[in-house]
Amino acid sequence: MEKITDYLCKYKDYIFAVGVTTAEYIDSLQNFEIRDTDVFLVTYPKSGTVWTQQIVALICESDFRDSALYPNNLERMPWLEYLEGRPDYSLRPSPRLFASHLTPALMPPGLRDKKAKIIYVMRNPKDNVVSYYHFCNAWKYLETPNSFDEFLQQYLVGQVGAASWFDHVRVWYSQRKQYDILFLTYEDMIMDLRSAVQQISHFLGRDLDEADINRVVEKATFKNMKTDPKANYEFLPEELLNRDKSLFLRKGTIGDWKNTFTVKQTEMFDRIYRERMGDLPLKFIWEMN
Ligand code: A3P
Repeated sequence: MEKITDYLCKYKDYIFAVGVTTAEYIDSLQNFEIRDTDVFLVTYPKSGTVWTQQIVALICESDFRDSALYPNNLERMPWLEYLEGRPDYSLRPSPRLFASHLTPALMPPGLRDKKAKIIYVMRNPKDNVVSYYHFCNAWKYLETPNSFDEFLQQYLVGQVGAASWFDHVRVWYSQRKQYDILFLTYEDMIMDLRSAVQQISHFLGRDLDEADINRVVEKATFKNMKTDPKANYEFLPEELLNRDKSLFLRKGTIGDWKNTFTVKQTEMFDRIYRERMGDLPLKFIWEMN
């Protein structure tokens, strides 16, 4: 891996935080055996990953829907690419659930045979960069930015963990036909959580009845996840996450970027967004009316 700052390193056009994984392990994913029943949640960071983890885990692991006696979501749906705490995934019972921020080139090629299912969640990049900025202030593996403007510049050129938002969304979207993949937006989930849960459960071939859908929705609201120690990631040690600075569940809204972006930053961002994404038929909700 090529170290590009004290905190970031580059490998095959992707950017990792230093120390979270190795080139050898990422290369070994090319031989990772995919099962038909595997479910992957793929996101660019700060797009609603922990939220969707909770939803997918509740849909797939029906035994845990009514009990508090379940493992935390990191154990239920581990990150494919990180080394910390990684057990031997070949020993895991099916259905295996994984989360990942990787791009298609680094993912196990077996996914391309449309064997396993992928849920890709994306979020409007203005809220995404603001959420990411706050997260960098709290997450030990990432450098604390000097200012939002500095972080915005790094984000726009893809000098942040997971590299460029623009490239991530584009590459997954443009290769979608090679996968069994469901695209969702964070904003659609905010606007109508119930239909997002229904869509996900239908995609996973687990059409839940009304009562079960209601239970999943209830456990996936921002308010309830915020106080659910298995879902809110506050189980992570203080050395990893500085809770005084930020949390995984921070605001959970659409349009928070308006509290942070200046007019000049907005104009610049809109221009770059049009240049880089204007040819794609993707529609994001940028603010609530
Ligand atoms: P904010 O920082 O804008 O609040 P990720 O899980 O990919 O790191 O994304 C984190 C973002 O998802 C945070 O956004 C967080 O608040 C939001 N989020 C997490 N759970 C949520 C929920 N149940 N409802 C709405 N937003 C949620």
